[in-house]
Amino acid sequence: MTDSTTTTNSGAPVASDQHSQSVGNDGSIVLTDHYLVEKLAQFNRERVPERVVHAKGGGAFGHFQVTGDVAQYTRAALFQPGADTKLVIRFSSVAGEQGSPDTWRDPRGFAIKFYTPEGNYDLVGNNTPVFFIKDGIKFPDFIRSQKRLPGSHLRDNTMQWDFWTLSPESAHQVTWLLGDRGIPSSWRKMNGYGSHTYQWINADGERFWVKYHFHTNQGHETLTQDQADQIAGQDADFHIRDLYAAIERGEFPTWTLKVQVMPYEDAKSYRFNPFDLTKVWPHEDYPEIEVGTMTLDTNPENYFAQIEQVAFAPSNFVPGIDASPDKMLQARIFSYADAQRYRVGTNYQQLPVNAPQSELHSYSKEGAMNVTFPPASKPVYAPNSFGGPHADAERAGDAGGWQSDGELVRAAVTLHAEDDDFSQANALVNQVMDQDQRDRLALNVIGHVSQVTHPEIRERAVQYWRNVDAWLGEQVANGLPPLKTTAGEQVPEPTPNVGDWAQDHVPEPA
Ligand code: HEM
Repeated sequence: MTDSTTTTNSGAPVASDQHSQSVGNDGSIVLTDHYLVEKLAQFNRERVPERVVHAKGGGAFGHFQVTGDVAQYTRAALFQPGADTKLVIRFSSVAGEQGSPDTWRDPRGFAIKFYTPEGNYDLVGNNTPVFFIKDGIKFPDFIRSQKRLPGSHLRDNTMQWDFWTLSPESAHQVTWLLGDRGIPSSWRKMNGYGSHTYQWINADGERFWVKYHFHTNQGHETLTQDQADQIAGQDADFHIRDLYAAIERGEFPTWTLKVQVMPYEDAKSYRFNPFDLTKVWPHEDYPEIEVGTMTLDTNPENYFAQIEQVAFAPSNFVPGIDASPDKMLQARIFSYADAQRYRVGTNYQQLPVNAPQSELHSYSKEGAMNVTFPPASKPVYAPNSFGGPHADAERAGDAGGWQSDGELVRAAVTLHAEDDDFSQANALVNQVMDQDQRDRLALNVIGHVSQVTHPEIRERAVQYWRNVDAWLGEQVANGLPPLKTTAGEQVPEPTPNVGDWAQDHVPEPA
């Protein structure tokens, strides 16, 4: 029971939630029933566009407590000894739409917004330390190849393998994706990675290159393809439910953040390009250093306001943390805020979940839905003589930087001895996986490639896996069933989702 009376959006009491005004009991409704009009019009505008990638997700609030001491590497307030910083996190899958099953094979997003005393710091990572491409100019093409055909609106393995095999830098991430780690059992039971190389700057202005690794303390756990397919049919929201229920039960998931730190000068002579997002840094070269613990302890009160409208951006840096020469990171620095101005609106950063919890003295003003403004006595331009905020030249050292010169070119970076596309994928297969994992990887690849309807692309896929590993290449070559064609014509197979390949095409392991 409630004792409050429904009101319109403008606050006036409402006489009925259930009956429109009409001319007589069974007559026409009338346009002067502004409450009916408001309800219908508001309903038509309930959605914002879904994210162009990572549309399906869920999130929670929590905090990050520093337990180690990395002050010698960064002056960032949130990483100083003893700091405890509030945060919001959103987990997601990448290619599926808002209603897609949580257990489809896909990387998972791992995006964190830290509300630090010096502004918001966003770390927008994935559950994998590498990525499919290394130049942002390829991102729209890559994503289109993972989404849907323009005519049938079906997902299509042929275009996925077409793109991957024509982009051999994808091999490391694709090996990861088709292995066991491609389907986590729960967001709580997977690691998170910053993936890119970032820059840290300490109080003396010294610079370091850094990679972030969030290790799950719930135990790492994955699903087999069969388990994932079954769950997809029973509970499309399996991962959202799992996280929400765990936090409701008081089982607060935690992750330990460790970083790899590379001295600034090392990057110039390291054996591969340390800013290449398709590569990991071996731990024997750069061991992990503990920073602190992230705990998620609070569920959102309102999914739309706090999770759908949350806006993470790799451009949200704070003093002591900055970008690196990674071309992918630089493309992302443009892309996110641009997407959010469109997806949520010009003043998306004024929404409570996106607003900094530190003092704000910005000269940005007005625009759609603007609700914050400085006192009328403050000037609206800089520089000024009337006591408006002024930039502080002393803070120039907060940001990083690096030396670079040269002609403007369009070229891949291949200046280092080991910049090739396949050796780290090979190491993942042979040094990280055991034989059972390799067998499952081979089966997953065979199942996935068997849905490719174009003979040349299938051949390229076999060669791709031979380049990763000779044994794996042979498994794929021998395991693929004959291509289904009718009188030489391609017969596109319906492929309802990436996860359905196992059903009738997968042969027994060789
Ligand atoms: C979401 C662009 C690469 C992780 C997004 C969004 C865009 C985008 C436009 C939607 C943002 C929004 O509407 O709020 C790009 C571009 C990339 C790129 C242009 C390459 C140049 C990556 C990489 C990672 C990543 C390498 C991980 C290491 C994410 C995550 C989200 C996301 C986790 C979802 C954030 C959330 O939960 O709201 N990306 N992306 N992206 N991206 Fe990327």
